[in-house]
Amino acid sequence: DLLEHILLLFIFSWISIGSSAVTPVFWEKGKDLLLEVMIRDVPEDFSLLLWTFNGKVVLVRFSPGREPRVSDVYTGRVEASVKNFSVKLKNLQEADSGVYTARVTADQVQKLAEYSVTAQVSPVAMTVDSVSSSSDSCSLTVTCSTQDSHHINSTFTCDTNTCSQEGGERSKVTTPGASLNVYLLNDLIICNHSNQVSWTNNRKMIDDFCFFLHFDIILSDEFLGHFYDSLYYDVLCLIIL
Ligand SMILES: *[C@@H]1O[C@H](CO)[C@@H](O)[C@H](O)[C@H]1NC(C)=O
Ligand SMILES: *[C@@H]1O[C@H](CO)[C@@H](O)[C@H](O)[C@H]1NC(C)=O
Ligand SMILES: *[C@@H]1O[C@H](CO)[C@@H](O)[C@H](O)[C@H]1NC(C)=O
Repeated sequence: DLLEHILLLFIFSWISIGSSAVTPVFWEKGKDLLLEVMIRDVPEDFSLLLWTFNGKVVLVRFSPGREPRVSDVYTGRVEASVKNFSVKLKNLQEADSGVYTARVTADQVQKLAEYSVTAQVSPVAMTVDSVSSSSDSCSLTVTCSTQDSHHINSTFTCDTNTCSQEGGERSKVTTPGASLNVYLLNDLIICNHSNQVSWTNNRKMIDDFCFFLHFDIILSDEFLGHFYDSLYYDVLCLIIL
């Protein structure tokens, strides 16, 4: 009986969660996205049907017997259908990632549909802001930036053998669910912009900015070359003898 109660409670809560569930949508940047409601859920005597973004910004207002009104910020970006209250968001951008909700007002305010939309991330750029180099150490600061003007800075320091990430930020959330990271992979600095759908990156070789590393490699190659040359002659001499 207790078990039965718990079971019933569980089923009821499951049903109520189910009816107001958020539909996750992963969408390609630049494509159009259609957001729909079930027409049979819309009361015939409704007074207002609203589509909102992140609970605040209104995309479209539907009232009976009137043309749908698209908000100023979405003018030209949204197509609304009077027939079925759907909304088409055109040319989806990363900044469009977020929660879209349709609510209808009749005797009660009722949620009709909710979508959690994630768009692909935008490209990331990397700039080298400063390089300071001496004979046995080198330090460079890079900035990773996304198209929607998020930035992170980080400083990398190398001695003649190894490089490490010293200062600045390593990670930052850009849009909800997306993050910008900067890190070191061997002698590559990588800016990575990623979310659940996609990632983009940009990379630079530390060797291109810290010249002493190159110099070292050239020197040791030459050294090894001579070493092998002399070894070769030694062996040759041995054979001749
Ligand atoms: C609603 O209308 C739009 C635009 O006419 C259409 O593309 C979409 O398929 C319709 N959706 C439903 C569920 O009828
Ligand atoms: C990155 O570094 C530059 C130069 O030190 C600084 O002007 C800028 O504010 C920094 N940006 C961030 C996001 O920390
Ligand atoms: C970028 O980050 C994503 C998600 O964390 C990961 O799957 C991907 O391998 C990373 N790309 C690079 C080049 O590190």
